[in-house]
Formats: sequence, C-alpha cells, structure tokens
Amino acid sequence: MSDDFRDASRGERLQKVLARAGVGSRRECETLIESGVVSVNGHVLVELPVWVDPAHDRITVSGRPIRPSEQHVYIMLNKPKETISTNDDPAGRRRAIDLIDHPDRPRLFPVGRLDKDTTGLLLLTNDGELANHLTHPRYGVHKTYHALVRGDLNEEAVADLERGIFLAERRKGGARRAKAVRFKLLRRDRGKTLIEVTLREGRNRQVRRMMLRVGCPVKKLRRIRLGPLALKGLAVGQWRELTSREVRALRRAADAGEKP
Ligand code: URA
Repeated sequence: MSDDFRDASRGERLQKVLARAGVGSRRECETLIESGVVSVNGHVLVELPVWVDPAHDRITVSGRPIRPSEQHVYIMLNKPKETISTNDDPAGRRRAIDLIDHPDRPRLFPVGRLDKDTTGLLLLTNDGELANHLTHPRYGVHKTYHALVRGDLNEEAVADLERGIFLAERRKGGARRAKAVRFKLLRRDRGKTLIEVTLREGRNRQVRRMMLRVGCPVKKLRRIRLGPLALKGLAVGQWRELTSREVRALRRAADAGEKP
C-alpha cells in the first residue's frame, strides 16, 4: 500500500486508532499528532485529517509502537428461526454466536436484535464503537425486512403505516409513533401479502407490532438489509466475514450522523 495518508479509503482516522489503542482521548491524540510525535510507516504526520490502515500500518508514538488492539472481526449471519440473537440466555436456548465457528474465537456480540423467529441478516462483531454507532437512534441506520403477513393489506392500512402507528413504550410508559421509512407491496396472494418494510428505528418487535395494529399479523419475517449490507449468498444458518469494502461502507454509514 502506498503512503498516501490523505486518502480516506485507507481505513480509519489516525486519532481514532490511537484512542482505541489506549493512547488517550481522541482530542488528546489530535494534540499529540499535531505536536509531531506520531509516525506512520516512518513518516511523521502532523496535519489532520489523515487516515491509516490499523491492520497494516506501523504506528509509533515517541518512537514506541502502539499496543495492537484486538483484531476486529465482522461477521454476517443468516440467522435461522429458533435462535436468539442475544448472548445471554439463562434458558439455554440456541444463540446466534453458537453458530459461528470462527478459528480465532473472537468475543463477538450482535449488533442490534432480531426476534427468536425472525430470520436473516444479523451482524456480529467485537468492534464496540462501530456497533454502538450502528444501533444508536441518532444515526438512524436503515433496516429492511421482508414480511409475509396474513390478510390482504389494503391501501388504507398502507396509508396508516406510512402516517405512523402509536406503539406502547416498554420502559418509559405512554406511546410513541412508529414510522416506516418505506413500504413496498411485493405480492398479494390468496389471503397473504408480502411486503418490504424499511425502518430507521429498532424498537422491540416493531414490524410485528405495526402489522398487527393494521390487522395483518406477521407469519414470516426476514431481514434482508442493514445499512449498506445486503444478505446475499448465505443459506439459512450460514455465516461469512464481511469484505473490506463492506466494512468500509459500514464505517461510512456509522459515521454519517457524527457531529464534527
Ligand atoms: N421487527 C420485528 O418485529 N422483529 C424483528 O426481529 C425485527 C424487527
């Protein structure tokens, strides 16, 4: 790789990588960089912004290499039914992480949740910072589902769904309007309707509750997209690591709402 640190596609901002390695806060790391003690592949970098590839670039502070942080792993699983997405389950049911036989045995956790009987795209990672951004409501990362519902979803119901439906809040009490970003009617067939629903929020059982409120209970639910990621080429129960292009796209999605 060339030593062009001005190219954002190289990876991550230098201060972010330093902060993750425990050098200091991002702001403190910016000050360190500007004071001329940080080198990457032998080049002293003083002007921000610069981007580095933490997996390949040799980064030193006052001549000492930074402590390599745990290698990040990003996995896409096509979650089957009867599998819970959370890691803790006192009832001992099958968990999504039980399906990942990764040779490095990273400590993975799921990014957001899928219900036990929802299938499809579940992202698992050991990158806490990225996971926090992807699930934080402020960033509003889109999630797209295919829902097979009972009943003929009529125009009136679609209009209700587009206006937003009040759903009870579990913790705060009261109700808040739940809105979909987009609905697409895919098929109506003998008392069943297949629709594509895209949400910005990730409230508990949101699709199931919204559909129930318009009289069309969900029979099958599958997540097909998460932000820039699409569920492709994985049979139910299979997993794969994300490509570096997918990881970069995810980072961009997670940074999109970030305040300067
Ligand atoms: N909405 C639901 O109802 N269930 C899920 O698993 C995800 C979104």
